[in-house]
Amino acid sequence: MKFLEKIIYAEVLMMVMVIWVVPICYGHGDHPGWLDARATFYGDINGGETQQGACGYGDLHKQGYGLETAALSTALFNNGSTCGACYELKCVNSPQWCVPGIIKITATNFCPPDYSKTTDIWCNPPQRDFDLSQKMYLKIAKYKAGVVPVKYRRVPCTKTGGVKFETKGNPHFLMVLPYNIGGAGDVRALQVKGTKTAWIKMQKNWGQIWNTGVVLTGQCLSFRVTLSDGMTKDFINVTTPSWSCGQTFDGRINF
Ligand SMILES: *[C@@H]1O[C@H](CO)[C@@H](O)[C@H](O)[C@H]1NC(C)=O
Ligand SMILES: *[C@@H]1O[C@H](CO)[C@@H](O)[C@H](O)[C@H]1NC(C)=O
Repeated sequence: MKFLEKIIYAEVLMMVMVIWVVPICYGHGDHPGWLDARATFYGDINGGETQQGACGYGDLHKQGYGLETAALSTALFNNGSTCGACYELKCVNSPQWCVPGIIKITATNFCPPDYSKTTDIWCNPPQRDFDLSQKMYLKIAKYKAGVVPVKYRRVPCTKTGGVKFETKGNPHFLMVLPYNIGGAGDVRALQVKGTKTAWIKMQKNWGQIWNTGVVLTGQCLSFRVTLSDGMTKDFINVTTPSWSCGQTFDGRINF
């Protein structure tokens, strides 16, 4: 084929693909698979107030979440079990306040209800609210609006590098925070295994922090992580035998 013919051929092929593929993906209603919620924001433009919080994460920049985060209202937070889940959000039905575009965030905090107020109670049950970092909010809405209607959907998390395990607590009450988790992102069950033990089920302490009373000092620790979608992976010999609390270990692989 001559060069020009090739270009025309490629263009026709692309048009055919757009005509056929786009309606298959997006043809069912305006926002197939998207649910209704609202978006608000908290903290300043540098996200100061978004650090730490109810999921148990710490410095969100160091932990790989950055400012691409949200605090979820009671209805979405699910007592911390959705910490680490990822969502796409877009502002809808508010031409005056919406900024076009879709953002992707990880749930890293809780937006607590306030029963003392009767207005602006966006985080009170049963309302679904994403209290975004200010930086992310400004990507989909104007500052002045303060609150906008959004459509949202769960999406797989894409993280760089391995799942990380932060040890907390003390040798007699080991607590572990798993973070930087890809795939479904939210942990449903965590087990730990020492070199000399079988798998030990850890209990949920709060947020995404898990604990066990079994003393595992002097042993290499392995972790078995099960996500909310049932996907399970083993992270073998993650720590050294001389591990102590307050360290972070790289699981090397991810979901
Ligand atoms: C929330 O989680 C904590 C810790 O896992 C648990 O003790 C508490 O009962 C849970 N609350 C509800 C309402 O499920
Ligand atoms: C993990 O460490 C233990 C103890 O050093 C060793 O016996 C085992 O082979 C290691 N497992 C893997 C998969 O490297």
